[in-house]
Amino acid sequence: MSETIQSVKGMNDVLPDEGPAWEFFESTVRAWLRRYGYRQIRMPILERTDLFVRSIGEVTDIVEKEMFTFTDKLNGDVLTLRPEGTASCVRAAIQHNLLYAGPQRLWYAGPMFRHERPQKGRYRQFHQVGVEALGLGGPDIDAELIIMGARLWRDLGLADIALEINTLGDIDARARYRTRLIHYLEKHQDLLDGDARRRLHTNPLRVLDSKNPEMQAMIEGAPKLLDDLDEPSLAHFEAVQRLLRHAGVEYRINTRLVRGLDYYNRTVFEWVTTQLGAQGTVCAGGRYDGLITQIGGKAAPAAGFAMGVERLIALMAGGSASMPPLAPDVYLVWSGEAAELHAWRVAESLRDAGVDVTLHAGGGSFKSQMKRADGSGARFAVIIGDDEAAAGQVTLKPLRDQQEQTRVRAEDLPALVAR
Ligand code: HAM
Repeated sequence: MSETIQSVKGMNDVLPDEGPAWEFFESTVRAWLRRYGYRQIRMPILERTDLFVRSIGEVTDIVEKEMFTFTDKLNGDVLTLRPEGTASCVRAAIQHNLLYAGPQRLWYAGPMFRHERPQKGRYRQFHQVGVEALGLGGPDIDAELIIMGARLWRDLGLADIALEINTLGDIDARARYRTRLIHYLEKHQDLLDGDARRRLHTNPLRVLDSKNPEMQAMIEGAPKLLDDLDEPSLAHFEAVQRLLRHAGVEYRINTRLVRGLDYYNRTVFEWVTTQLGAQGTVCAGGRYDGLITQIGGKAAPAAGFAMGVERLIALMAGGSASMPPLAPDVYLVWSGEAAELHAWRVAESLRDAGVDVTLHAGGGSFKSQMKRADGSGARFAVIIGDDEAAAGQVTLKPLRDQQEQTRVRAEDLPALVAR
């Protein structure tokens, strides 16, 4: 026997038993997005590497060390498996001139790839549902994006997801703050770890994000971005908060929330839970008014977020979110040559009537087939032997209650089961 081949590290199979949770999640999300008027866009999984370098930022964890990048052997193009969806979505909107028709409310879903150290809730292939509002600059959109998140948690039956928000101000405010922060960090050089030292002059804001316990006190004492904020950004942030309060959405302002991607300005937010251990952020996003021009489009404001599907499904499994079982209505067992053809006809006539049927395959005694029928979770077993076949009948046996089995005409079966 040859050696078995395993999946790539950090990339998971979603097995049939997990199917119902994924399907419940996906159908709930689709209905929720429709309710807010967002339309689906599908982008390729592969993009030119430049797209991510230019948007996410050269000195970020994602671009520095987490991208699956390779050279196309046939033509030398440098390509990357998308680590996130925002850059691709904006690229597609520019390429197809979508904003010409006015602002766009868009969503996408699918696998993303990051070469991180795998652990519970953190994978190298994971799934996101992302939502992007392009061409809209008001605080009402930031609030809409947040309020719709709050509704989704309710729709999914999830509690204990807390909201953290912050504002990063405009580009000038960030530049002023950057200078002040570098000055402060330089004064504390001896306390900086390797990562922080490297980022000191390229991306000092990310130093604040460090989880290194030895740097926490120094980080606590760092100047606050809030003190450099420009008036319009502050007013924008106030307006977002007013709308959240009006909608009854609770939040906490976290002045250290800076996000791991460089394209953000003004409002940023994260939904976090304490129930998933270290990987507790289930959804995150913010405003990115500069990104469209950064990747070659005509200036337009934008904001959005993306959620981690695996993390939310883990949260559903750990909680009480209700999941409809995925069992057939009928499990059809049969034995005998004449019975086989009859069974096929009966199964198709049931499906014509909208009934979900599993037709037994693989032979076996009636007894072993009935065991399978029971295990399938079906409401009914339909039993066909050569007797039934000759008479144009079937035996209908309810599996979930104590009712007697009955013999009925095959043509009456679909209506009986559907009832
Ligand atoms: P992000 O914070 O990098 O933002 O990712 C969003 C969410 O994806 C995270 O909060 C987390 O739930 C999930 N996620 C990220 N990495 C992993 C991983 N390795 N394994 C499992 N789940 C993960 C973005 O991607 C932005 N594009 C969000 C956005 C959209 N901002 C504006 N529009």
